[in-house]
Amino acid sequence: MTTTVPTIALNNGTSIPQLGFGVFRVDPERTAEIAGNALEVGYRHIDTAAGYHNEAGVGEAVRASGIAREQLWITTKLANGDQEHPEDAFQASLDALGFDYVDLYLIHWPLHEKGIFPQVWKSLISILESGRAKSIGVSNFQVEHLQRVIDETGVTPAVNQVELHVEFQQRELKAFHDQHGIATEAWYPLGGGSLSEAPVLERIAQAHGKSVAQVVLRWHMQVGNIAIPKSNHRERAAENLDIFDFELTADELSQIAGLDKGEGGRRGTHPLQMR
Ligand SMILES: NC(=O)c1ccc[n+]([C@@H]2O[C@H](COP(=O)([O-])OP(=O)(O)OC[C@H]3O[C@@H](n4cnc5c(N)ncnc54)[C@H](OP(=O)(O)O)[C@@H]3O)[C@@H](O)[C@H]2O)c1
Repeated sequence: MTTTVPTIALNNGTSIPQLGFGVFRVDPERTAEIAGNALEVGYRHIDTAAGYHNEAGVGEAVRASGIAREQLWITTKLANGDQEHPEDAFQASLDALGFDYVDLYLIHWPLHEKGIFPQVWKSLISILESGRAKSIGVSNFQVEHLQRVIDETGVTPAVNQVELHVEFQQRELKAFHDQHGIATEAWYPLGGGSLSEAPVLERIAQAHGKSVAQVVLRWHMQVGNIAIPKSNHRERAAENLDIFDFELTADELSQIAGLDKGEGGRRGTHPLQMR
């Protein structure tokens, strides 16, 4: 039986499955198998990037699955080293995937010091207009970067994919997203490898007969985030999808809200440090 994952309406009229499968650090040699497992257990949304060097494996998994392309949501991202030639890089991504369009194309990092992200955003707008990306967005953008692209082009990114997990809930950035109709997509949704061992999560998990990972992903769904957990293991991929048969209470949500450490909870690279 295929799990029905809710969708989030984006600001350009498309709808993205709220739970997807990420393939960061998935070995290119094993990506076809691992992404294929994800499709078999029911995912219909895969998040890759040129920088992961595994777009070819994602495309292979899609073709092997027999699932119609239009039933899938595939996101890829412009690599940092390609900001000076986004059009060529985009075409290379399409070629690697073996598709004639992607559902979502993102600028992977703003590269604040380099400072050409507004021009890069204009290239993504052209790609959108060509129909080869159904939606466009950004990743790791902070408020100042978002404000600049909106001011300079009048086109608001559909999505901002950022580090976001129970210990780093990104309240200010999310408030800006909500004001501007930008969907929030969480990377490191599980914390990026070491799940939080907070007793609160253990207690909530026990109360629902679920795992901590499932509770955390359910929290993402209930607070309106798009989440893209990764697992090399088929059974964990299936476990992470099995979160639509229970609901966290208002009290449980507020206990999880209390786990936020603000900036102190950040585990990955700060966007201003990425060069
Ligand atoms: N835009 C960006 O800059 C950016 C940066 C980082 C990530 N991302 C995207 O976000 C996706 C998710 O991030 P991520 O993969 O780094 O971190 P994550 O999904 O938060 O965590 C993945 C880790 O959790 C483990 N795991 C998965 N399911 C589990 C479960 N049910 N129980 C216990 N452990 C479990 C995985 O181990 P096993 O694989 O061994 O199961 C892996 O070590 C990436 O794949 C990528 O698509 C984007």
